[in-house]
Amino acid sequence: MELRLENLTKIFTNKNGQETKAVDSLDITIESGTLVGLLGPSGCGKSTTLFMIAGLVKPTTGKIFFGDDDVTKLAPEKRGIGLVFQNYALYPHMTVFKNILFPLENMDVPRDEAFERVKAMANLVGIGELLDRKPSQLSGGQQQRVAIARALVKKPRVLLLDEPLSNLDARLRLQMREEIKRIQRETGITTIFVTHDQEEAMSISDKMVVLDFGKEQQYDPPQDMYNSPDNLFVAKFLGNPPINSFEAEVKNKKLIINEKPFMQVNIPDGLYDVGMRPENFRVKEDGFQTTVKEIFHIGRDTMIHFDFNGKNVRALVDSESINDKQKTVNLTIKTERVYLFDKQTGKVVNHG
Ligand SMILES: Nc1ncnc2c1ncn2[C@@H]1O[C@H](COP(=O)(O)OP(=O)(O)OP(=O)(O)O)[C@@H](O)[C@H]1O
Ligand SMILES: [Mg+2]
Repeated sequence: MELRLENLTKIFTNKNGQETKAVDSLDITIESGTLVGLLGPSGCGKSTTLFMIAGLVKPTTGKIFFGDDDVTKLAPEKRGIGLVFQNYALYPHMTVFKNILFPLENMDVPRDEAFERVKAMANLVGIGELLDRKPSQLSGGQQQRVAIARALVKKPRVLLLDEPLSNLDARLRLQMREEIKRIQRETGITTIFVTHDQEEAMSISDKMVVLDFGKEQQYDPPQDMYNSPDNLFVAKFLGNPPINSFEAEVKNKKLIINEKPFMQVNIPDGLYDVGMRPENFRVKEDGFQTTVKEIFHIGRDTMIHFDFNGKNVRALVDSESINDKQKTVNLTIKTERVYLFDKQTGKVVNHG
């Protein structure tokens, strides 16, 4: 089921008449059967967007389509959505079986078929053996699987997941995100996965939407967004360790760093924000020379802090290429991996 948001906006007004634009003119089409990660810092409007799609929050303006159906005014229970929250919200007094069955009891599904669907769904999410237990007798990961099974048993048109893994420990998170990807692939259900964890979103999504202050910053497959950020916000939000960014000047088609011309650029003179990802540097003899400030060995890679334009910049390089005693190091970076951003708008400037 294709999902389309048209100029979707939500303005909350508090008692003093103060307005918060939680979601600002979103125009997004989510292709049928894809998993889209909705990503951004706390308060950027992720949950509000999801709740509008679910029908729990009424949009101020704009429309929501499921395929050709305009569902903007449709009641939540009529939309055919499966919803999973951060806290699993299972019924504590019911068994796992009953928890998953519950949504079907309000529908006209014959008893035998309902039982079959519960079992099939429990098997799909890997809790087929736990149907007689109560939620308190399950681990966090198992509880979250029950919540997913319960959301899917109705065969929803769209699956909405709001930070479903944030209550789990790091290892379980990793395992569950692979599970969610598998379940999504096997069911082929159009899914939106909300998270503020960029790595989680990158690893699981077919495409990602990055939001800031309710506004779409970019909508692309994860690797495209990582390699070709549209603006400084996206460049900074993706990547760990984060991208190095600092101000530099362009003069006569030359980018000046450390008072030296660093590379040719085909853009007007002025100040720009430069972005360079730590892993895009290489140690190379004919590279530019920098002063090593600190060296951290982290297994296969080594992190160097070096002085660049008076700024402390990080490079992540092959451990074989550097030794502890080095006071200077020669580095290179491909020109297409040097990002330049407009100082006013933050938009990336093509300098090739
Ligand atoms: N019911 C409400 N009334 C007033 N303001 C609200 C309401 N719900 C959300 N907001 C505001 O709207 C903005 C977006 O909130 P939202 O919950 O969508 O953010 P989020 O991206 O889900 O954040 P988080 O990562 O912390 O969950 C915030 O500024 C929030 O304070
Ligand atoms: Mg939220």
